[in-house]
Amino acid sequence: MQDGTESEEGIRYYEERAKGGVGLIKTGAMFLDEKTAQGGPTLALHNTRAIPKATVLVERVHRWGSKICLQISCGTGRNGMPNIGERVPISSSANPSFYDPETLCRPLETEEIKEIMKDFEAGAQYALNAGFDALEIHGHAGYLIDQFISPQWNQRTDEYGGSWENRTRFATEIVEAIRGVVGPDFPIIFRISLDHMYQGGRTLEDSMPIIQLLEKAGVDALDIDSGSYESMDYIFPTRYTGEACMAYVCEEARKHVNIPLLNAGNHSMETAVDLLESGNADIISFGAN
Ligand SMILES: Cc1cc2nc3c(=O)[nH]c(=O)nc-3n(C[C@H](O)[C@H](O)[C@H](O)COP(=O)(O)O)c2cc1C
Repeated sequence: MQDGTESEEGIRYYEERAKGGVGLIKTGAMFLDEKTAQGGPTLALHNTRAIPKATVLVERVHRWGSKICLQISCGTGRNGMPNIGERVPISSSANPSFYDPETLCRPLETEEIKEIMKDFEAGAQYALNAGFDALEIHGHAGYLIDQFISPQWNQRTDEYGGSWENRTRFATEIVEAIRGVVGPDFPIIFRISLDHMYQGGRTLEDSMPIIQLLEKAGVDALDIDSGSYESMDYIFPTRYTGEACMAYVCEEARKHVNIPLLNAGNHSMETAVDLLESGNADIISFGAN
């Protein structure tokens, strides 16, 4: 919920999944603050009721033997819905808003980037205090973090633009900020689309140096698939997108990194087992998180 507290209905929803025997539950994206949330749920770090309520959620899931991972996001950037939140969306560069291409995004100042890192530190502390078992950074499918990583959206000339290493710096600094708070043993997962699935988007091949940089920065596992707002059917796959429609990214990723890989997208029990047995993925996700 927007005030940072989970409703009783929301807690019951997650608890039912835990009762059903799910190994790891990932929450939907929780935004760091109202400014970046675009109407979505926030951690509401200033709200003293938020952590006790999150603790109830975690305990109700743990009661049934499941683990729970908090997904955190610093915003949707150019993908933000029009007329919700900031009128001019923020981004890495002056990108046209996805829904209103006449509106150009405001590039983040270096000072603001440093503030976002502080917010991630506070978000990591929140996750620890509430008892979550892992954190997932929402670097997915064209949202703000991806707007830094990908050259079609990042035209910066400072240390956050240019080479793959510079473009990935925003993401690796987030990993380092979180690691500094949670310590060496707490699992940090990074969610990233490896193939934007449109002409001019980041390709599977382009994504390989990025995941290697993320591994080097201390990410413990990668949650990988495909898509972007330009190819929405992969972010929100329909049955027409086909079974295991994003499993194909795993084979290439497996060749380039050594950390565990998660994969989602129209899996059936059979495709999930096949992918696990192929050795190209370690955890299969089901359902919208
Ligand atoms: C309504 C809806 C909301 C979603 N919200 C999120 C989200 O907050 N964070 C995220 O990483 N993925 C989100 N996704 C993507 C899903 O996590 C998942 O990748 C996608 O639904 C494909 O898996 P599935 O076929 O098992 O549902 C969402 C998908 C849907 C349909």
